[in-house]
Amino acid sequence: MPRIAYVNGAYVPHRHATVHIEDRGYQFADGAYEVVNAFRGRLIDERLHLDRLDRSLGELSIAPPMTRQAMRLIMREVVRRNRMTTGLLYLQVTRGVAPRDHKFPPAIKPALVMTARSIPEFPKEMHDDGVKILTIPDIRWARCDIKSVALLPNILGKQAAAEADAYEAWMVEAGDYITEGSSSNAWIVTADNILVTRPTGNRILAGITRRAIFGMAEELGYTIEERAFTVAEAYAAKEAFMSNSSHFVTPVTQIDDAVIANGKPGNLTLELHERYVRYMEAAIPLQSLEA
Ligand code: PDD
Repeated sequence: MPRIAYVNGAYVPHRHATVHIEDRGYQFADGAYEVVNAFRGRLIDERLHLDRLDRSLGELSIAPPMTRQAMRLIMREVVRRNRMTTGLLYLQVTRGVAPRDHKFPPAIKPALVMTARSIPEFPKEMHDDGVKILTIPDIRWARCDIKSVALLPNILGKQAAAEADAYEAWMVEAGDYITEGSSSNAWIVTADNILVTRPTGNRILAGITRRAIFGMAEELGYTIEERAFTVAEAYAAKEAFMSNSSHFVTPVTQIDDAVIANGKPGNLTLELHERYVRYMEAAIPLQSLEA
């Protein structure tokens, strides 16, 4: 079945989906995006993703391309046309098309692209064995709270991780503090079962999965400390994991050369993963929803 993309008002076959060469997203990375997880016919935390997109656009002074209601209709249509039940819905808004000039062009229409990609449910081996992390210097700008399409440091980090046979890169700032992963938030569990993750602010993206984990940890009676933690603390952690919309709660069993605890995914991590899957199962299926 051919994949269908939404591009500025039209549903087009994915392989013919193009944007203009002077789209400012292409020339300046002048835009923002979201990745929404579709799980068994449900869009997980759709409202929170759209809220975050609004916020990113607001911080960049990019006008919303349309009303939220219209956006939700298109999201559903993209899911439907791609017959996606489990996968990722990608939304990208750029400032629009204009002759190249750093300043914002007057009266420009924002560009909106959406794609859907079916993926298998959580890869079992990642869950069973956990993943390896490579730490790298955080060379990003000071507004990591904006989900901008400007991802050069992130892709360089992910590539460095892949070349080191690791799955994700955790970025480290001055003082040896971990900020977050190249496409995920970073977590550790201390010897006394306290969950530690970096506070939101300009140094990290406020993850939607991260936020859901807060609620689940509370239900399970665990304490979360929002504070910066060092690489040394992470090496010595009882458990470690990463969170994002594409892979939920993923156990981390090695960071650089340090094997975390006994090298097996931690119990609290697995418990959170299970709870997160139940959280997704409890979301309302798209078929039963009005846009
Ligand atoms: N990335 N931090 C960064 C830098 C991210 O890019 C992401 C998500 C997260 C986790 O956010 P959330 O839980 O809302 O997915 C944290 C997406 C998945 C991506 O770029 O593909």
